Amino acid sequence: MSQGKTYVVTGGAGFIGSNIAEALRRRGDRVRILDNFSTGRRENVETLGDVELIEGDLRDPQAVRRAVTGADGVFHQAALRSVPRSVDDPLSSNDVNVTGTLVLLMACRAANVRRVVYASSSSVYGDDPALPKVETQAAHPISPYAVSKLAAEHYCQTFARLYGLETVSLRYFNVFGPRQNPESKYSAVIPRFLELALQGRALEVHGDGEQSRDFTYIDNVVQGNLRAMETPGVSGEVFNVACGTRHSLIAIAEAIGDFLGRPLVREHVPSRPGDVRHTLADITKAEQLLGYRPTVGFADGMRRTCEYFVARFGAASEPGRRAAARP
Ligand SMILES: NC(=O)c1ccc[n+]([C@@H]2O[C@H](COP(=O)([O-])OP(=O)(O)OC[C@H]3O[C@@H](n4cnc5c(N)ncnc54)[C@H](O)[C@@H]3O)[C@@H](O)[C@H]2O)c1
Repeated sequence: MSQGKTYVVTGGAGFIGSNIAEALRRRGDRVRILDNFSTGRRENVETLGDVELIEGDLRDPQAVRRAVTGADGVFHQAALRSVPRSVDDPLSSNDVNVTGTLVLLMACRAANVRRVVYASSSSVYGDDPALPKVETQAAHPISPYAVSKLAAEHYCQTFARLYGLETVSLRYFNVFGPRQNPESKYSAVIPRFLELALQGRALEVHGDGEQSRDFTYIDNVVQGNLRAMETPGVSGEVFNVACGTRHSLIAIAEAIGDFLGRPLVREHVPSRPGDVRHTLADITKAEQLLGYRPTVGFADGMRRTCEYFVARFGAASEPGRRAAARP
């Protein structure tokens, strides 16, 4: 892997972006973060040490130009994440996720940035029951969020074809791990369950809880990003980034209960519109073309995540925590 380059991480104050930024710093690259802190946190940037912060909006061409000038590559993570948020407010999701990406691509082209690695989403596949999802399968988005992530993917591919700006899109499947934000009604399920469990409250489960996801620990996603930036000959491509296994929401609740050493109460509420029933990735393409290999599986990832949340959000009174979560 290269040393001493300058990389921009859009959304670097967020969950995935700050973990990518940390990995880049660790190997000696220079990091510039563009973030407007709409969902990201200042403490995520502060813990990174020596990084350049450009506080600004992805939709502001001047801020984006400042951020990408002189950069070797851009890890584009900034977006309004969450299916339910997009169902509540489709215009904002479109504005940030689609227009914001277009502003970024135009600035990268003008600044001769070599490559943009774009954070796409498994949601683009929609609710087609065929599993596992392969990149050649037609996309059938069923939420405004999924439409926005797919539209930005198409912009990335179009810029690669039309202008020679190298772009690679990574379809992440439910990422989890340290620094994921539990404190919003649009939080992802694992941090949300952990927060409720640590507060001694019932876990709110949408539907029967048997819906499943290819939950992917953050280290695997960071690895996928670094490989997507470095690997020659993959511009314009789309890759699934996941583990290739799936786990239900009930299994998540049980893993957290095992870790905390007590069964957790579940409260079932109606399913959410726009949510897909199951996700599972075929990761063969990323394995073959990027050399991607998931190194942290679900059980190990759950244990590390539980440890982080207990240390961060406290559970000194939790009795009999066990060292391992159920696989
Ligand atoms: N977390 C997942 O499971 C998952 C799954 C699939 C895809 N993704 C994608 O990965 C990326 C990162 O997700 P995350 O989980 O780290 O989310 P996050 O909310 O923690 O991070 C997003 C970051 O983008 C910043 N941001 C939002 N709008 C902005 C704007 N207009 N200008 C500048 N910065 C802005 C936020 O402040 C935040 O720091 C997103 O593009 C998301 O769509 C995430």
